[in-house]
Amino acid sequence: MAVLIIDETKEMGTIEPEIYGHFSEHLGRCIYEGIYVGEESDIPNRKGMRTDVVEALKEIGVPLLRWPGGCFADEYHWKDGIGKKSERKKMVNTNWGGVTEDNSFGTHEFMELCDQLGCKTYINGNLGSGTVREMSEWIEYMTNPGGSPMSELRKENGREKPYKVDYFGVGNENWGCGGNMTPEYYANEYRRYQTFIRQYDGENPIKKICCGANSEDYYWTEEVMEGCFKHTDPQSHGFMDLLSLHYYTLPNGWLPKVSATEFDEELWNKTLWAAYHIEELIIKHGAIMDKFDPNKKIGMSIDEWGTWFLVEPGTNPGFLYQQNTMRDALVAGISLNIFNKHCDRVKLACIAQMVNVLQAVILTEGNKMIKTPTWYVFKMFRDHQGAELLDSRLINEGSISVDDQHCLPKISESVSIKDGVIMITLNNLSMNETEEIIIQTIKNKKYDVVECNILRADAPQDINTFSEPEKVISSGYSGYKFQGNDIVLSLPGASVVQLKIK
Ligand code: AHR
Repeated sequence: MAVLIIDETKEMGTIEPEIYGHFSEHLGRCIYEGIYVGEESDIPNRKGMRTDVVEALKEIGVPLLRWPGGCFADEYHWKDGIGKKSERKKMVNTNWGGVTEDNSFGTHEFMELCDQLGCKTYINGNLGSGTVREMSEWIEYMTNPGGSPMSELRKENGREKPYKVDYFGVGNENWGCGGNMTPEYYANEYRRYQTFIRQYDGENPIKKICCGANSEDYYWTEEVMEGCFKHTDPQSHGFMDLLSLHYYTLPNGWLPKVSATEFDEELWNKTLWAAYHIEELIIKHGAIMDKFDPNKKIGMSIDEWGTWFLVEPGTNPGFLYQQNTMRDALVAGISLNIFNKHCDRVKLACIAQMVNVLQAVILTEGNKMIKTPTWYVFKMFRDHQGAELLDSRLINEGSISVDDQHCLPKISESVSIKDGVIMITLNNLSMNETEEIIIQTIKNKKYDVVECNILRADAPQDINTFSEPEKVISSGYSGYKFQGNDIVLSLPGASVVQLKIK
């Protein structure tokens, strides 16, 4: 039987709320339809933002939102998205389906959305096809209090006070869609562009995010760090606050994508192994960062993560619309537990993407909306945000064989403490087998159970649909008992459990 040992005397660091961040791109039906319907829409909205979607997102406590891309960011020219909507310039979204982008959702609309969500803002700038001047003027437009050409333009467009930009990304995937650059070239560009991100609000400086690697591309990390910190002391000033990492869970690697809903146990295991692999990436990219930044002042920003499957049959392949099952829920549970455990380096993460794209937490169809199994995981994990990570480890948790070379632990866990309440989040990775787990604490204290919830489905392939929106939902769980001061918990196969004790 597996044993989880929690050392409640050892706090390992703060789990930054931003680890629970989201990503929204001008891609398919993420922004338009999914979030923004315009003020004239019949769908209930506040200043154009769907109220049903905003309310559902508030329930999971979205701490941060990244926008406008993704690949779209390096083709986005922010001045096209301000001013009178009818006069905004249109463009073709060449990355995503070649559709016409009318720019009706721009800087002011994004800031309004973040205001409604009560979240921090992460804007991704255009380094691939934009100029230093353009990037620098965007910062001036958003954050200069007044008296400059761009701040006056913002005021003319109806916003007197400056906006708060919490994070700014200097390009996206510049090794690929953001310009196909070499790391050496990008490092120089990063040095130049970041210089002109002026800090108009000295008390709340904008945190700068440098474009990091794709999955195992350690060469990129090494060369970018090397290039950026040649003759520059990483500890001395706000030159680079975070370095990004993008990693998608692709069960077949870069081979053809597989269905989001049709899978067997073999594919289930492969997918969860691919999700687990992110821990190795964090450790290895982190070790390279350590060479340049041993005090871990630069955070890792995993600002694109999640599953990437085949699009739903009959939908535009460029729109990346996929369904969501318990397999996605487990990928989310595994990833979030790993991010928590590496909170000394991982300071920010964004699931891709928030609505209607890839591993979305919300799906919409006309005026209908559903919460996916992944939404429930974010809800169950919500109280890890801002909590202190506790030292915890599993003994005897057993493993699942994936193929000749790989195996996977049966259980994943992380534990945190906030306001005296210890929260344990557990995933049973086995598709069918129930696991019993004994939970012990170093203080050997008798704790009371404050709350226990489970997410599971009748079948791992079950989904929420617009006709049956609540097939897979979380519910209260009583599958535990006390054994002395220990708690013995039964974890059904393919389930996510949250247990709070005090
Ligand atoms: O999330 C979809 C795309 O995946 C993003 O636009 C890009 O950054 C990544 O390749």
